[in-house]
Amino acid sequence: MQTELLSVTPEAIQRAGELIRQGQLVGFPTETVYGLGANALDADAVKRIFEAKGRPGDNPLIVHISRIDQLAPLISGEPSPAAKALMDAWWPGPMTLIFPKSDVVPMDVTAGLSTVAVRFPAHPAAQALIDAAQRPIAAPSANRSGRPSPTTAAHVMEDMDGRIPLILDGGACEVGLESTVIDMTGSEPRILRPGGVTPEMIAQVAGSAGVDPAVMRPLKEGEVARSPGMKYRHYAPTGALTIVKGADGAVIRKICDLYDAALEVGNRPLILALEGHLPAYGDRKALSLGADAAGMAHALFARLRDADEIGADALFSEAVAADGVGLAVMNRLGRAAAFHIVEADE
Ligand code: TXA
Ligand code: MG
Repeated sequence: MQTELLSVTPEAIQRAGELIRQGQLVGFPTETVYGLGANALDADAVKRIFEAKGRPGDNPLIVHISRIDQLAPLISGEPSPAAKALMDAWWPGPMTLIFPKSDVVPMDVTAGLSTVAVRFPAHPAAQALIDAAQRPIAAPSANRSGRPSPTTAAHVMEDMDGRIPLILDGGACEVGLESTVIDMTGSEPRILRPGGVTPEMIAQVAGSAGVDPAVMRPLKEGEVARSPGMKYRHYAPTGALTIVKGADGAVIRKICDLYDAALEVGNRPLILALEGHLPAYGDRKALSLGADAAGMAHALFARLRDADEIGADALFSEAVAADGVGLAVMNRLGRAAAFHIVEADE
């Protein structure tokens, strides 16, 4: 299959909408990461997503809408007052809510679960595509399973060339990490995957918010994941990744030591660091993660892809404080490192 790459224009959106209606897959931009979309109400189309990604069949998809009135048919019962407050505050935006599903949502979308994840993306091209398709769009991130999520159309092409007919190019994604996933089926909102909408922002609007314990550690032997996606080692670079945490100076010294030791034994090490710290690493090979936590959210997945490209086999990354959007950054970084985190001594 030939994969076409088209800039977002009204004509390209119409073509993409038509492909979706025909049961085909389209790569498209959102404000978080690029999605791989299919008609959410067509079980055969949804199966193609799993094939193209090489995604395990037990990992459910998010259904994307472009108008609030598209929500009611997808869910069973009414959204709770907390859900309504969150929708008012952060939709459209980088937030996904989980509700009990209705019968119109195929089991292939929810991987057999009785709940459905729904998101109203803010990106105008994503909204225009859903409008053009005239139906909700099921979309995971548009990477091959196990690769970092794509934040540019070129990343989608790297992973999906020859597997899908069309990619819409809307430039680099603004947020750079996937949406916050919140389970709304319990007594309080529960964050299953942290993202751009932070626990602080959720608690402010919904009164309280729990964070699933699996967010900042690997699952224990025999533990059942509340969000099936959490049990897979995502965002994995080819090289072994170590996160170093502690005070700035100590972290820089520790990373220099680890880098030099890796070089000594013949590895090809690479450092991922905040922009302002790069000079401190001298002529060691280092890539910038941006100026702060928000910059890291934006840059992280692209740098992990760069690390693969360079052929680095020992990666050392600085940590960031796990609050605000930093929680999402540390969740993704932690999972990429299989939670291999070392503490730098003072
Ligand atoms: O920002 C995003 O959310 C992007 C863009 C394209 O919208 N999409 C995305 O999809 O990241 P994906 O498939 O890569 O991640 C969806 C996550 C997975 O961890 C999955 O297990 C979880 O949401 N999920 C989906 N439906 C669920 C459900 N019914 N219950 C629990 N977790 C669910
Ligand atoms: Mg994904």
